[in-house]
Amino acid sequence: RTQPLVLGIESSCDETGVGIVRGTTLLTNTVSSSMDEHVRFGGVIPEIASRAHLDAFVPTLEQALSDAGVVLDDVDAIAVTSGPGLAGALMVGVCAAKALAVATGKPLYAINHLVAHVGVGLLDGAGGGQHNGTAPQLPENLGALLVSGGHTEILRINSITDDVQLLGSTIDDAAGEAYDKVARILGLGYPGGPAIDMVARTGNPKSIRFPRGLSQPKYMGTAEEPGRHRYDWSFSGLKTAVARCVEQFEARGEEIPVADIAAAFQEAVVDIISSKAVLACREHGIKDVLLGGGVAANSRLRELTGQRCASAGIRLHVPPLDLCTDNGAMVAALGAQLVMAGVEPSGIRFAPDSSMP
Ligand code: KG4
Ligand code: ZN
Repeated sequence: RTQPLVLGIESSCDETGVGIVRGTTLLTNTVSSSMDEHVRFGGVIPEIASRAHLDAFVPTLEQALSDAGVVLDDVDAIAVTSGPGLAGALMVGVCAAKALAVATGKPLYAINHLVAHVGVGLLDGAGGGQHNGTAPQLPENLGALLVSGGHTEILRINSITDDVQLLGSTIDDAAGEAYDKVARILGLGYPGGPAIDMVARTGNPKSIRFPRGLSQPKYMGTAEEPGRHRYDWSFSGLKTAVARCVEQFEARGEEIPVADIAAAFQEAVVDIISSKAVLACREHGIKDVLLGGGVAANSRLRELTGQRCASAGIRLHVPPLDLCTDNGAMVAALGAQLVMAGVEPSGIRFAPDSSMP
């Protein structure tokens, strides 16, 4: 069969996701989140997340099958996130997937969550859809900009089964982590990314100039002689600069201009992510870039990266919002790519790996 029906399961953090694709066509993306249960703790509590996955898995699976109008028997393969993520949370999805695979006799694929975040861009309408027969056709010289709560990386992908080449990454905090920490400093609650995105709309991004980490010439070097951190990012200094700025307003007894600080912080993050990503792509002949990860849902990142890629003649593939945050469709999408590429299934003996690279 050239268009395999693949069921994808995601449980690495607080989202229980079941997605179903046929080849590169998305049939359904069903997600149940336990975020409401974590909000009062200011972060995801692993034990609560695991229990929530256990409660949510069967209803989410049943909903996904019914939305897609298929039954388990129709499925050609099952794919599941095996890492990285919270160990106990991963365990629930992996055990569920193994049970389904054993019960139905379907092949099972273990999926790297991070690769799935960028692989989702290969779905029709998500920016990809280059599939034209039995084997998936990746655009030549494909890049991926992965911006999530745990990672900020610019990658070159040579084939869906090959190792990816890391061109640049954060040397300290991930961008999403910076959003979450700054939101806490500004009293905007958790999760911070969407809160800052929202409040920044009413602020002036030019009101304060926050530092762009690793942008000095000594880190950048030249195209011929790249500096050590030419394509790398650093966000910990920026977080500290925001904290100092808030302290100064407090010391003067002035009201903290939350919207302006949020907008200026966001501008600094998005400016340096997009400029370094575009530079890395230009200098490596990359013409297509998949944008992925939770922070890819950020409105300003989507806008500015899109503009800068367009000026540089690079096609930026931006998934719809619900495919950026954690979901099962991305796992199914990458699983389908592996099936179409003729990759052997993983069997049922693999273990979840919370720190998978
Ligand atoms: O990819 P993801 O769902 O989980 C990980 O695999 O890490 O990313 C979660 C991160 C969180 O830090 C969250 O604050 C951030 O993505 N995020 C955003 C937005 N939506 C989610 N950051 C900025 N703007 C957003 N709209
Ligand atoms: Zn994720």
